[in-house]
Amino acid sequence: MTPDELKQHAAVAALRYMEPKLERGSILGIGTGSTVNHFIACLGEQRDLRARLEGTVSSSEESARRLKALGIEVMDLNTAGNVDFYVDGADEANHHLQLIKGGGAALTREKIIAAAAREFVCIADESKLVAVLGRFPLPVEVIPMARSHVARKIAALGGMPVHRDGVTTDNGNQILDVHNLDLRDPREMESQLDQIAGVVCNGLFVRRPANRLLLAGNHGVRTLLPSI
Ligand code: 5RP
Repeated sequence: MTPDELKQHAAVAALRYMEPKLERGSILGIGTGSTVNHFIACLGEQRDLRARLEGTVSSSEESARRLKALGIEVMDLNTAGNVDFYVDGADEANHHLQLIKGGGAALTREKIIAAAAREFVCIADESKLVAVLGRFPLPVEVIPMARSHVARKIAALGGMPVHRDGVTTDNGNQILDVHNLDLRDPREMESQLDQIAGVVCNGLFVRRPANRLLLAGNHGVRTLLPSI
């Protein structure tokens, strides 16, 4: 199976999992990326399920555009209040369901919606599962005027930050992709990065990991729950 087919299988599995749990008036959080695009397309075909939704909240302008094009209501998180489920992909996941996200530059809104969600369902193909986070360069969203300052502070932590050229986030900020960070203690690193002045958000999802990881492989979709 191609990586794209695997992503689609993970997306379908997420819909199947949530379908019986979504009550009338539910709010669905929608992430960003190629795996989520499959989820949006599947959601578009589910009339009954859509009729039960009060609306969706989206982690990016791109996903919002796709949802609206299918006639799916997109709400402001301030209006929506609590989010019942948040569905999103990941760039990396470990067995604790801690994640690296932000390959699509949407990490800040993704972290906000994940924080507001009752349940975070992460969907991915099995290539995203790693023993230790950090193979994928860690995205960090920075205020533009602070980029060099933040880069120096990250270098002092042992990372090698690379400016993602030509990318402006939906919030008007820039992205540093950080290579070679030691992420054996990802919780500590998430906090340290957050403390640097000028950092808006970093792509470690450790304080708020996923609740369920649906991982598609050639032999089907596996469900991973956090190991205790
Ligand atoms: C966007 C993200 C995505 O979830 C992540 O990049 C995975 O993308 P894809 O589903 O295309 O592999 O964090 O900011």
